[in-house]
Order: sequence, then structure tokens, then C-alpha cells
Amino acid sequence: MDLIIKNGTIVTSTETYKGDIAVKDGKIEAIGNCLQEEGVNVIDAKGKLVLPGAVDVHTHLAMPFGGTVSADSYLSGTRAAACGGVTTVFDYPVQRKGNSILGLINEKKAVCEEEACVDYAFHCCITDLNEGAILEEMEKAVEEGITSYKCFFVYKKEGMMVDDGTFTKLLKRVKELGAVLNVHAENPDLIDLNVENFLKEGKTSPWYHYLSRPEYVEAEGDKRAVHWAKHLDAPLYIVHMANKEGLEAAVEAKREGYNIYVETCPQYLEFTSEVYKREDGRNFVCSPPMKGQESQNALWKAIENGDIDTVATDHCPFQSYEKDWGKDDFSKIPNGCAGVENLYPYMLSAANEGKISFNKAVELCSTNPAKIFGCVSKGSLTVGKDADIVIYDPTKEFTISVDNMHSEYDHTIWEGISLKGYPQMTISRGEVVYKDGEFVGKPGWGQFVKRVANQ
Ligand code: URP
Ligand code: ZN
Ligand code: ZN
Ligand code: ZN
Repeated sequence: MDLIIKNGTIVTSTETYKGDIAVKDGKIEAIGNCLQEEGVNVIDAKGKLVLPGAVDVHTHLAMPFGGTVSADSYLSGTRAAACGGVTTVFDYPVQRKGNSILGLINEKKAVCEEEACVDYAFHCCITDLNEGAILEEMEKAVEEGITSYKCFFVYKKEGMMVDDGTFTKLLKRVKELGAVLNVHAENPDLIDLNVENFLKEGKTSPWYHYLSRPEYVEAEGDKRAVHWAKHLDAPLYIVHMANKEGLEAAVEAKREGYNIYVETCPQYLEFTSEVYKREDGRNFVCSPPMKGQESQNALWKAIENGDIDTVATDHCPFQSYEKDWGKDDFSKIPNGCAGVENLYPYMLSAANEGKISFNKAVELCSTNPAKIFGCVSKGSLTVGKDADIVIYDPTKEFTISVDNMHSEYDHTIWEGISLKGYPQMTISRGEVVYKDGEFVGKPGWGQFVKRVANQ
């Protein structure tokens, strides 16, 4: 054995019990009581919770977007992940129209080999089928472990939008390949119309970012996506669900037995559209925007009912000077906020405060995302799985500030939010990568997670 974590309370998505975990060659070798061996490194987790590392299935690292590039590189984004208890990060490489996806995946892999501090996987964003060539390439990509794809109903001027025809071809193809399709669902024409009208009327503050894409705009996209997924009986994962009406449509389809998965993000659980009235409202501009209280209540209720499958971050930070581009015009604000370091601490704090159970937090942030996306060695504290482990101190009081985060951004929407409990240590395949507030891992440690398709 290489390491024993002793005397902790082990929390999985279904159980909570006292026990020790032994690690060998990066894997969980044994779980039991009073495990010991001469000369082995021991971590005493007395009074702590021992959890599986989180799997953040929604990040945008070094992504060209909104006239710039998102602020976290693969290095700083995965370093921040490690410090927030995230041991696997999924990124969204975006296909440039006309280009190959296999080439794109190889490019990203090469960067991550040098930079990644925790393990990584890719959902490839498809923007153009290249007359069907991409549908062919997808088969090869699935064999290489890329078992999920993404498309956007929005971002036309960024060259990322797909039409319904492309969307349905992708749904059919992922079904054939045992893969899953992610969708960013909002209605692009309604957004364009609303933005145009507001700007004409001189309504330029971030509040109009929200009003140009309010509840009904997102709900239309969700309902359309659900409609096609049901019609084709194909697996669909709706990213960053933020509204009640669309959520209800997805939940109804799930209850009917369709393979529809729903993700929400911590920012929708914490903030409402009221933030856009704040002086720093532009920092909260992301798409879909935060919604009203009714939607937020519905999201928490759906978590309680088991209707939301995952919580992931949509980590896509921009620097203050970039957010400032939209001081006099909300449509010029790069869309996206930070979150990868806040996800697990936030959800675990909600558990610590009694809002959900710790098992639920583990299920949403680790077990379900690993399962849905075919990470067979992740998402659970079980013998044989990767030793991706978080040691959590439920007594630590922590206030989030840009100064105690480990990203490259210069501000965070989470500034000043107080959490009850905080990760003390993160272990990635048996190696300590974060301890007592400090990153202690190294770039290049992270490995590509080769995923398994559903058969
Ligand atoms: O505003 C956001 N969410 N930016 C990142 C891209 C996306 O839509 O997920
Ligand atoms: Zn997205
Ligand atoms: Zn999106
Ligand atoms: Zn996103």
C-alpha cells in the first residue's frame, strides 16, 4: 500500500460510515476498519468526511469567446479545480467550422498533457457537420473515449449555433454510438429580437441581459430539445438548466422514461436575476442568465425530488476589464462566470447546513456525472476505482474571496459568500494535490479520461 486514510467518515452517494481507505498505485486498494501496514504514509481523517473527488462536467478553459479568451488556461483552471475538490474536469473544445474534430481533440490533449493538474475529459462541441464527415469522425472519436458531444442553440455570431436539422442529426448519431448529446438550450431569434429592441430604446444595463433572455426564452429551447430527444428516443443532457418551465418539461420526459438528463449550476442555486440590478451586475452576466426566485425554488425542489441529475459549474471567467466592455451596452459583456473552485464547497456547505444530505451532494457532483458520461473509474469510493478523494473539514468556516482562489481571474461572483465547512485536502489518483489552502500538485499530472460508451 502507498497510503492509508484513517478514522474518517466515508460518504458515498448512498452510504455514510466510519472506515479507512488504503490506496495503492493510484487506486483504492481496500476499504475497512483498522487498516495498517508498516512504513505506509498515513493521513488521519478523524473528525473529517472522506468523499469521492468531484467531477465537474462543464468548464470552458482557454476558450475563444465573446471577442476574447476565457481567463483560465488548462493549467490555472485545473489548479483551481484541485483546490476545490474537483479531480476530473470536462472541457468543451469548440470545432471551428469546416475543421475536423479528431484534430481538435488531439490539439487539446497535447495542451492538457503539459498543463492539466487533475484528470480531464472532453465533450466536443460540434458547429458544422462538414457534409456528414463529422458524423463519421464521431465513431472514431467515441472509440478514443470521447463519448459525449455538445451543441448550442445560440451564439450565431460566434459561429457556434446549430439549427434544428443539425441538432436532430447529432441526436440520432449519439444514439447509434452509445454517446450523449449536451445542449445549450435558449431561443436565439427571441434573444436577438429582444436585444435589438432594448438597445434601440437605450436600455443598456445588465438588467436587460436578463430581460432579453428571461424564463420563456430558455424554456422554449428546453422544450424544443426535449421534443426532438423524445421523438428520436435519443440521450440528451441539458446543460445549465436555470428556469422552471423548461425544467418541468424535462422532468416530465424523464418520468416517461426518456434518457434526458438535467444539469444545473451553483450560480443558479445561489443568485437570482436581482444581481443584474447591482452596480457590478455585469460580472454576473452569463447565459442563460440567473432567473427569478420562482425558478430558483424549482431548482432546489427538483434536487430534493431527484429530478436534477448533476450540478456542474459552466466555469468561464473573464477579467474585469473585459466585463467592462459592456458598461454602456450589456450585449458587449463576455458571457460567463467562475465556479470550478466553488462547486463542491458550495454544495457540501448546503449539505452541512441541512439543505440537502451529504450523500446528495456527492451524487450530484461526483457519482452521477461520472456515470452519465462513462467515467468508469471515477465518481465513487469503491475498491478498484481511482483514488480521487477529498477530505472535508465540516467545522471550517470559509469566506470566498478572489484572494483565496487559485484561478487567473481578478474577481469572482462568489466574493464574500460564507461557507460552512471546506475541503482540507484533495487527492488525485493517490497524490495529494491540494492541502490546507495551498495547491501542492503539478502541471502535467492530470491524465486523459478515456470514457466508455453505453452499449
Ligand atoms: O455564459 C456562459 N455560460 N458562457 C459560457 C458558454 C456557455 O454558454 O456555456
Ligand atoms: Zn455551455
Ligand atoms: Zn451554455
Ligand atoms: Zn458552458
